[in-house]
Amino acid sequence: MLNKFLNKIICGDALQTLALLPENSVHLIITSPPYNLNVQYANHHDELPYEEYLAWMAKVWAECHRVLVEGGRLCINIGENKRQNISVPTFSAFIQQCVELKMLYRGTIIWNKNSAAKHCAWGSWNSPSNPHLVPRHEYIIVFSKGRYKLDGKESDNTLDSDGKEFMESTRSVWSFGTESRQRIGHPAPFPVALPRRLIQFYSYKRQIVLDPFAGSGTTGVAALLLERRFILIDNSKTYCDLACSRLNELAAQQRLFADSISRVETIELSDIASDIAINATLHANGLHNSDAF
Ligand SMILES: C[S@@+](CC[C@H](N)C(=O)[O-])C[C@H]1O[C@@H](n2cnc3c(N)ncnc32)[C@H](O)[C@@H]1O
Repeated sequence: MLNKFLNKIICGDALQTLALLPENSVHLIITSPPYNLNVQYANHHDELPYEEYLAWMAKVWAECHRVLVEGGRLCINIGENKRQNISVPTFSAFIQQCVELKMLYRGTIIWNKNSAAKHCAWGSWNSPSNPHLVPRHEYIIVFSKGRYKLDGKESDNTLDSDGKEFMESTRSVWSFGTESRQRIGHPAPFPVALPRRLIQFYSYKRQIVLDPFAGSGTTGVAALLLERRFILIDNSKTYCDLACSRLNELAAQQRLFADSISRVETIELSDIASDIAINATLHANGLHNSDAF
């Protein structure tokens, strides 16, 4: 059943799609969910009441936990979003939620965005009375399911052999610039460097990388470049189509497809769901798909 999802972009709701994935099937999840900061997405209202937002995210992390293999990793990218009416920062609420799922907390990476932006939230100018912080960073919080060690063959380790890349990645501050919204055509893309480094550091070649909020497909781009298989989910047809053309263009330029993939496709969740339902009915009646078609 997992084959239906591999190297595909699934256009559908994250929770509904995750529910169709078998448990213990994915090695690495990299995602940047909506931050609830009123970003204008094509098909999502990004300003839910905060408790509702957190309750939704808790359900997503529970599904992520279910689909991960033992030792599989969950990496969540989330920005700073302190507002006066929110007492707990969102990254810390997510850590709490994942720990409650009994996930093992591996640590937090600070993504230094190398921002040169000059704007400033003054609060008070040149005075200790009420100066505000202006975030120049985001977080990537990292968890393992069940145990810290991930099974894989050393021959499928794609880190540079001199160990420099590994050393860099073990340091908890990662510096690279942001991605341009205009260039990508999505309101909140992360740079390819972010999933690329996570994939190198936390998975082996051919393992399965999932992004349930895939947007423009950046996690898929990094997975393709590093010969991992991927599953991308987004509930906007516009972004799924964008991700699809990005991946196919890259593959065509770089002749990246392994023999098992000829083209990346977007599929509608409803199509997969009905296939799965047909298979379940056939199975219950002692038949296989090939018997019916
Ligand atoms: C922060 S963006 C991810 C951007 C992505 N990392 C990239 O590089 O393009 C969050 C994405 O979540 C998607 N989204 C929002 N609600 C969703 C839902 N219920 N199910 C699936 N995707 C959803 C939005 O369409 C948006 O593309």
